[in-house]
Amino acid sequence: MRGHSFLLFILLLAFPLEAHGQNRLGCLGAFERLSQMIGENHFETRRDFENYARFFPQSFLDSVSLLRAEGHWIDAGSGEGFAVEDFFKGYVLDPVRLQAKAEGDHWSGRRTLLNSNEIIEAATRLNYVASENKPKVTAVTFAMERNPPKTSPKLAFKTGRFLEEIPNSEFSKADIITDLFGVASYSPRLDDVLRKYHDLLKLGGRAYIFIGDYIETPDAAGGYSNTRVGEPGWDAPFAQSQVRQKNGDNVPIIEWLRNLPGFQVTLEHRRVEQKTRPGILPGSVLRSTIVLEKTSPDVEIPKLKLIFADEGKPPIRRFQEIDQ
Ligand SMILES: C[S@@+](CC[C@H](N)C(=O)[O-])C[C@H]1O[C@@H](n2cnc3c(N)ncnc32)[C@H](O)[C@@H]1O
Repeated sequence: MRGHSFLLFILLLAFPLEAHGQNRLGCLGAFERLSQMIGENHFETRRDFENYARFFPQSFLDSVSLLRAEGHWIDAGSGEGFAVEDFFKGYVLDPVRLQAKAEGDHWSGRRTLLNSNEIIEAATRLNYVASENKPKVTAVTFAMERNPPKTSPKLAFKTGRFLEEIPNSEFSKADIITDLFGVASYSPRLDDVLRKYHDLLKLGGRAYIFIGDYIETPDAAGGYSNTRVGEPGWDAPFAQSQVRQKNGDNVPIIEWLRNLPGFQVTLEHRRVEQKTRPGILPGSVLRSTIVLEKTSPDVEIPKLKLIFADEGKPPIRRFQEIDQ
Protein backbone atom coordinates (compact mmCIF):
# COMPACT_ATOMS: atom_id res chain seq x y z
CA MET A 1 0.00 0.00 0.00
CA ARG A 2 1.41 3.40 -0.95
CA GLY A 3 2.05 5.97 1.80
CA HIS A 4 -1.04 8.16 1.48
CA SER A 5 -3.45 5.21 0.87
CA PHE A 6 -2.07 3.55 3.98
CA LEU A 7 -2.67 6.76 5.94
CA LEU A 8 -6.26 6.90 4.62
CA PHE A 9 -6.75 3.26 5.64
CA ILE A 10 -5.54 4.03 9.19
CA LEU A 11 -7.78 7.11 9.35
CA LEU A 12 -10.77 5.03 8.29
CA LEU A 13 -10.01 2.53 11.03
CA ALA A 14 -9.64 5.26 13.62
CA PHE A 15 -12.69 7.34 12.58
CA PRO A 16 -15.03 4.89 10.89
CA LEU A 17 -17.52 6.57 8.55
CA GLU A 18 -18.39 9.46 10.84
CA ALA A 19 -15.18 11.34 10.09
CA HIS A 20 -15.73 10.82 6.38
CA GLY A 21 -19.08 12.46 5.97
CA GLN A 22 -21.08 9.19 5.88
CA ASN A 23 -22.78 9.95 9.17
CA ARG A 24 -25.99 8.12 8.40
CA LEU A 25 -24.50 4.63 8.43
CA GLY A 26 -22.22 5.51 11.31
CA CYS A 27 -25.08 6.74 13.44
CA LEU A 28 -27.40 3.89 12.57
CA GLY A 29 -24.74 1.56 13.94
CA ALA A 30 -24.36 3.52 17.17
CA PHE A 31 -28.13 3.85 17.60
CA GLU A 32 -28.69 0.14 17.14
CA ARG A 33 -25.76 -0.77 19.39
CA LEU A 34 -27.15 1.31 22.25
CA SER A 35 -30.65 -0.11 21.82
CA GLN A 36 -29.16 -3.59 21.77
CA MET A 37 -27.11 -2.87 24.91
CA ILE A 38 -30.28 -1.82 26.74
CA GLY A 39 -32.01 -4.99 25.57
CA GLU A 40 -29.14 -7.23 26.75
CA ASN A 41 -29.42 -5.68 30.22
CA HIS A 42 -25.93 -6.56 31.44
CA PHE A 43 -25.95 -3.77 33.99
CA GLU A 44 -25.91 -3.19 37.71
CA THR A 45 -29.69 -3.20 38.17
CA ARG A 46 -30.18 -3.99 41.84
CA ARG A 47 -29.49 -0.78 43.75
CA ASP A 48 -31.76 -0.40 46.75
CA PHE A 49 -33.30 2.71 48.30
CA GLU A 50 -30.29 3.29 50.55
CA ASN A 51 -28.08 3.29 47.47
CA TYR A 52 -30.33 5.90 45.88
CA ALA A 53 -30.02 7.89 49.12
CA ARG A 54 -26.20 7.77 48.87
CA PHE A 55 -25.88 8.45 45.13
CA PHE A 56 -28.41 11.27 44.84
CA PRO A 57 -28.02 14.60 46.65
CA GLN A 58 -29.77 15.32 49.93
CA SER A 59 -32.52 17.33 48.17
CA PHE A 60 -33.75 14.08 46.58
CA LEU A 61 -34.08 12.43 49.97
CA ASP A 62 -35.78 15.52 51.38
CA SER A 63 -38.29 15.78 48.52
CA VAL A 64 -39.12 12.09 48.28
CA SER A 65 -39.63 11.88 52.04
CA LEU A 66 -42.06 14.81 51.92
CA LEU A 67 -44.30 13.26 49.24
CA ARG A 68 -47.68 12.17 50.51
CA ALA A 69 -50.81 10.61 48.97
CA GLU A 70 -51.17 13.13 46.14
CA GLY A 71 -47.51 12.82 45.16
CA HIS A 72 -45.92 10.83 42.33
CA TRP A 73 -42.35 9.57 41.92
CA ILE A 74 -41.24 8.06 38.60
CA ASP A 75 -38.05 6.00 38.57
CA ALA A 76 -36.79 6.07 34.97
CA GLY A 77 -34.61 3.02 34.33
CA SER A 78 -35.53 1.26 37.55
CA GLY A 79 -33.73 -2.02 36.83
CA GLU A 80 -34.97 -4.75 39.17
CA GLY A 81 -36.90 -2.13 41.13
CA PHE A 82 -35.41 -2.72 44.58
CA ALA A 83 -35.30 0.99 45.41
CA VAL A 84 -38.99 1.50 44.71
CA GLU A 85 -39.91 -1.76 46.44
CA ASP A 86 -38.03 -0.64 49.57
CA PHE A 87 -39.98 2.60 49.49
CA PHE A 88 -43.17 0.66 50.28
CA LYS A 89 -41.73 -1.16 53.27
CA GLY A 90 -42.72 0.03 56.73
CA TYR A 91 -39.10 0.72 57.59
CA VAL A 92 -37.72 2.41 54.45
CA LEU A 93 -34.49 3.94 55.63
CA ASP A 94 -32.24 2.86 58.49
CA PRO A 95 -29.99 5.85 59.34
CA VAL A 96 -27.45 3.66 61.17
CA ARG A 97 -27.13 1.18 58.30
CA LEU A 98 -26.97 4.01 55.76
CA GLN A 99 -24.15 5.68 57.68
CA ALA A 100 -22.32 2.34 57.91
CA LYS A 101 -22.65 1.83 54.14
CA ALA A 102 -21.54 5.41 53.55
CA GLU A 103 -18.36 4.73 55.53
CA GLY A 104 -17.40 2.35 52.72
CA ASP A 105 -15.26 -0.72 52.99
CA HIS A 106 -11.62 -1.09 53.83
CA TRP A 107 -10.79 -2.05 50.25
CA SER A 108 -12.13 1.10 48.62
CA GLY A 109 -11.17 3.36 51.51
CA ARG A 110 -13.92 5.69 50.34
CA ARG A 111 -16.65 7.21 52.40
CA THR A 112 -19.64 9.28 51.41
CA LEU A 113 -20.08 12.26 53.68
CA LEU A 114 -23.65 12.37 54.98
CA ASN A 115 -25.17 14.78 57.44
CA SER A 116 -26.58 12.55 60.22
CA ASN A 117 -29.26 15.02 61.25
CA GLU A 118 -30.57 15.37 57.70
CA ILE A 119 -30.62 11.59 57.26
CA ILE A 120 -32.45 11.05 60.56
CA GLU A 121 -35.03 13.71 59.66
CA ALA A 122 -35.67 12.12 56.25
CA ALA A 123 -35.90 8.65 57.85
CA THR A 124 -38.42 9.94 60.38
CA ARG A 125 -40.61 11.19 57.54
CA LEU A 126 -40.17 8.00 55.49
CA ASN A 127 -40.56 5.25 58.06
CA TYR A 128 -43.87 3.84 59.28
CA VAL A 129 -46.00 5.96 56.92
CA ALA A 130 -49.42 4.35 56.45
CA SER A 131 -49.77 2.95 52.97
CA GLU A 132 -52.70 5.24 52.08
CA ASN A 133 -50.52 8.25 52.83
CA LYS A 134 -47.66 7.16 50.56
CA PRO A 135 -47.32 8.68 47.09
CA LYS A 136 -47.80 6.80 43.87
CA VAL A 137 -44.60 5.38 42.38
CA THR A 138 -44.08 4.32 38.76
CA ALA A 139 -41.00 2.31 37.87
CA VAL A 140 -40.11 2.23 34.18
CA THR A 141 -37.53 -0.14 32.84
CA PHE A 142 -36.95 -1.78 29.50
CA ALA A 143 -35.73 -5.07 30.93
CA MET A 144 -36.56 -6.64 34.28
CA GLU A 145 -35.56 -10.19 35.16
CA ARG A 146 -37.78 -10.83 38.17
CA ASN A 147 -41.54 -10.49 38.31
CA PRO A 148 -42.49 -6.98 39.37
CA PRO A 149 -43.20 -7.06 43.12
CA LYS A 150 -46.82 -6.47 44.08
CA THR A 151 -45.91 -4.68 47.29
CA SER A 152 -48.57 -2.00 47.07
CA PRO A 153 -51.38 -0.98 44.71
CA LYS A 154 -49.60 2.38 44.61
CA LEU A 155 -46.50 0.86 42.99
CA ALA A 156 -46.75 0.33 39.21
CA PHE A 157 -44.14 -1.13 36.86
CA LYS A 158 -43.92 -0.46 33.15
CA THR A 159 -41.54 -2.91 31.53
CA GLY A 160 -40.63 -4.05 28.04
CA ARG A 161 -40.83 -0.63 26.40
CA PHE A 162 -38.50 2.29 25.96
CA LEU A 163 -39.65 5.18 28.12
CA GLU A 164 -39.38 7.51 25.12
CA GLU A 165 -42.06 5.43 23.37
CA ILE A 166 -44.61 5.21 26.18
CA PRO A 167 -47.48 7.68 25.58
CA ASN A 168 -47.73 10.50 28.12
CA SER A 169 -51.39 9.58 28.61
CA GLU A 170 -50.27 6.44 30.49
CA PHE A 171 -48.74 8.55 33.26
CA SER A 172 -50.03 11.06 35.73
CA LYS A 173 -47.78 14.06 36.28
CA ALA A 174 -44.83 13.54 38.58
CA ASP A 175 -43.23 15.53 41.39
CA ILE A 176 -39.95 13.68 41.10
CA ILE A 177 -38.24 11.68 38.37
CA THR A 178 -35.09 9.76 39.29
CA ASP A 179 -32.61 8.47 36.75
CA LEU A 180 -29.73 6.55 38.35
CA PHE A 181 -27.56 5.23 35.51
CA GLY A 182 -30.94 4.89 33.81
CA VAL A 183 -32.67 6.15 30.70
CA ALA A 184 -30.73 9.41 30.22
CA SER A 185 -27.38 7.62 30.60
CA TYR A 186 -28.09 5.03 27.91
CA SER A 187 -30.68 6.35 25.49
CA PRO A 188 -29.65 7.09 21.90
CA ARG A 189 -32.56 9.59 21.93
CA LEU A 190 -31.54 11.90 24.77
CA ASP A 191 -33.65 14.77 23.40
CA ASP A 192 -36.79 12.57 23.44
CA VAL A 193 -35.96 11.57 27.03
CA LEU A 194 -35.63 15.22 28.11
CA ARG A 195 -38.86 16.09 26.29
CA LYS A 196 -40.53 13.18 28.09
CA TYR A 197 -39.23 14.35 31.48
CA HIS A 198 -40.53 17.84 30.75
CA ASP A 199 -43.94 16.48 29.71
CA LEU A 200 -44.22 14.18 32.72
CA LEU A 201 -43.21 16.65 35.43
CA LYS A 202 -45.58 18.92 37.28
CA LEU A 203 -44.62 22.59 37.19
CA GLY A 204 -41.93 22.88 39.88
CA GLY A 205 -41.29 19.12 39.71
CA ARG A 206 -37.69 17.92 39.52
CA ALA A 207 -35.82 15.32 37.48
CA TYR A 208 -32.67 13.95 39.16
CA ILE A 209 -30.27 12.66 36.53
CA PHE A 210 -27.18 11.08 38.05
CA ILE A 211 -24.14 12.02 35.98
CA GLY A 212 -21.19 10.50 37.86
CA ASP A 213 -18.05 11.62 39.62
CA TYR A 214 -16.11 14.83 39.39
CA ILE A 215 -12.65 14.12 40.83
CA GLU A 216 -11.56 17.22 42.73
CA THR A 217 -8.28 15.87 44.05
CA PRO A 218 -7.53 12.54 42.41
CA ASP A 219 -5.95 9.82 44.46
CA ALA A 220 -2.87 7.99 43.31
CA ALA A 221 -4.32 4.52 43.02
CA GLY A 222 -7.96 5.05 42.15
CA GLY A 223 -7.63 3.59 38.69
CA TYR A 224 -9.20 6.56 36.95
CA SER A 225 -8.65 6.41 33.27
CA ASN A 226 -9.68 9.91 32.41
CA THR A 227 -8.06 12.08 35.01
CA ARG A 228 -4.41 12.17 35.83
CA VAL A 229 -3.05 12.17 39.35
CA GLY A 230 -3.28 15.68 40.74
CA GLU A 231 -5.52 16.93 37.95
CA PRO A 232 -9.19 17.50 38.65
CA GLY A 233 -11.76 16.36 36.10
CA TRP A 234 -14.78 14.24 35.26
CA ASP A 235 -14.49 10.50 35.52
CA ALA A 236 -17.95 9.93 34.13
CA PRO A 237 -19.02 8.92 30.64
CA PHE A 238 -22.21 10.96 30.86
CA ALA A 239 -20.26 14.08 31.73
CA GLN A 240 -17.69 13.39 29.01
CA SER A 241 -20.37 13.15 26.34
CA GLN A 242 -20.77 16.05 23.96
CA VAL A 243 -23.21 17.88 21.74
CA ARG A 244 -22.21 19.47 18.45
CA GLN A 245 -24.28 22.63 18.31
CA LYS A 246 -25.71 24.13 15.14
CA ASN A 247 -22.94 26.76 15.16
CA GLY A 248 -20.41 23.91 14.88
CA ASP A 249 -19.13 24.13 18.47
CA ASN A 250 -18.75 20.88 20.42
CA VAL A 251 -19.84 21.44 24.01
CA PRO A 252 -19.82 19.06 26.96
CA ILE A 253 -23.30 17.67 27.51
CA ILE A 254 -23.46 19.26 30.97
CA GLU A 255 -22.93 22.69 29.47
CA TRP A 256 -25.58 21.95 26.85
CA LEU A 257 -28.02 20.78 29.53
CA ARG A 258 -27.41 23.93 31.58
CA ASN A 259 -29.07 25.94 28.81
CA LEU A 260 -32.00 23.60 28.34
CA PRO A 261 -35.22 25.61 27.88
CA GLY A 262 -38.14 24.97 30.23
CA PHE A 263 -36.00 24.01 33.22
CA GLN A 264 -33.95 25.61 35.93
CA VAL A 265 -30.81 23.49 35.87
CA THR A 266 -28.51 22.96 38.85
CA LEU A 267 -25.68 20.62 39.65
CA GLU A 268 -25.92 18.98 43.08
CA HIS A 269 -23.69 16.41 44.70
CA ARG A 270 -22.67 14.22 47.58
CA ARG A 271 -19.05 14.51 48.58
CA VAL A 272 -17.02 11.31 48.73
CA GLU A 273 -13.64 11.24 50.43
CA GLN A 274 -10.77 8.87 49.93
CA LYS A 275 -9.12 7.99 53.22
CA THR A 276 -5.36 8.12 53.28
CA ARG A 277 -3.78 4.67 53.09
CA PRO A 278 -0.27 3.54 52.26
CA GLY A 279 0.26 4.27 48.55
CA ILE A 280 -2.95 6.24 48.24
CA LEU A 281 -3.20 9.99 48.51
CA PRO A 282 -6.30 11.51 50.06
CA GLY A 283 -8.79 12.33 47.36
CA SER A 284 -12.09 14.08 47.07
CA VAL A 285 -14.92 13.36 44.68
CA LEU A 286 -18.17 15.19 43.92
CA ARG A 287 -20.74 12.48 43.17
CA SER A 288 -22.93 14.58 40.93
CA THR A 289 -26.51 14.85 39.77
CA ILE A 290 -28.05 17.26 37.29
CA VAL A 291 -31.30 18.54 38.68
CA LEU A 292 -33.84 19.77 36.13
CA GLU A 293 -36.65 21.74 37.74
CA LYS A 294 -39.56 22.41 35.40
CA THR A 295 -40.17 26.14 35.22
CA SER A 296 -42.46 26.58 32.20
CA PRO A 297 -45.22 24.50 30.67
CA ASP A 298 -44.51 24.77 26.95
CA VAL A 299 -41.09 24.44 25.55
CA GLU A 300 -39.15 23.26 22.53
CA ILE A 301 -36.24 21.03 23.49
CA PRO A 302 -33.69 21.14 20.64
CA LYS A 303 -33.63 18.04 18.47
CA LEU A 304 -30.56 15.81 18.62
CA LYS A 305 -29.12 13.04 16.47
CA LEU A 306 -26.75 10.45 17.90
CA ILE A 307 -23.50 10.48 15.93
CA PHE A 308 -21.25 8.33 18.11
CA ALA A 309 -21.43 5.97 21.07
CA ASP A 310 -18.67 3.87 22.54
CA GLU A 311 -19.11 0.48 24.22
CA GLY A 312 -18.86 1.83 27.78
CA LYS A 313 -21.39 1.32 30.53
CA PRO A 314 -22.67 3.90 30.44
CA PRO A 315 -21.41 4.90 27.00
CA ILE A 316 -19.71 8.12 26.02
CA ARG A 317 -22.04 9.59 23.41
CA ARG A 318 -21.81 12.41 20.93
CA PHE A 319 -24.93 14.09 19.62
CA GLN A 320 -25.52 16.71 17.00
CA GLU A 321 -28.22 19.38 17.03
CA ILE A 322 -30.46 19.09 14.00
CA ASP A 323 -33.40 21.05 12.59
CA GLN A 324 -36.77 20.55 14.28
C1 LIG B 1 -27.74 0.39 34.81
S1 LIG B 1 -29.42 -0.08 35.07
C2 LIG B 1 -29.78 0.87 36.51
C3 LIG B 1 -30.96 0.35 37.25
C4 LIG B 1 -31.31 1.04 38.56
N1 LIG B 1 -31.52 2.46 38.40
C5 LIG B 1 -30.21 0.80 39.56
O1 LIG B 1 -29.48 1.74 39.87
O2 LIG B 1 -30.08 -0.35 40.02
C6 LIG B 1 -30.23 0.77 33.75
C7 LIG B 1 -31.70 0.42 33.60
O3 LIG B 1 -32.31 1.36 32.74
C8 LIG B 1 -33.16 0.71 31.84
N2 LIG B 1 -33.22 1.54 30.64
C9 LIG B 1 -32.18 2.09 29.96
N3 LIG B 1 -32.64 2.80 28.93
C10 LIG B 1 -33.99 2.74 28.96
C11 LIG B 1 -35.04 3.30 28.17
N4 LIG B 1 -34.76 4.09 27.13
N5 LIG B 1 -36.33 3.02 28.51
C12 LIG B 1 -36.61 2.23 29.57
N6 LIG B 1 -35.66 1.67 30.37
C13 LIG B 1 -34.37 1.93 30.05
C14 LIG B 1 -32.55 -0.64 31.61
O4 LIG B 1 -33.53 -1.59 31.23
C15 LIG B 1 -31.95 -0.94 33.00
O5 LIG B 1 -32.89 -1.61 33.78
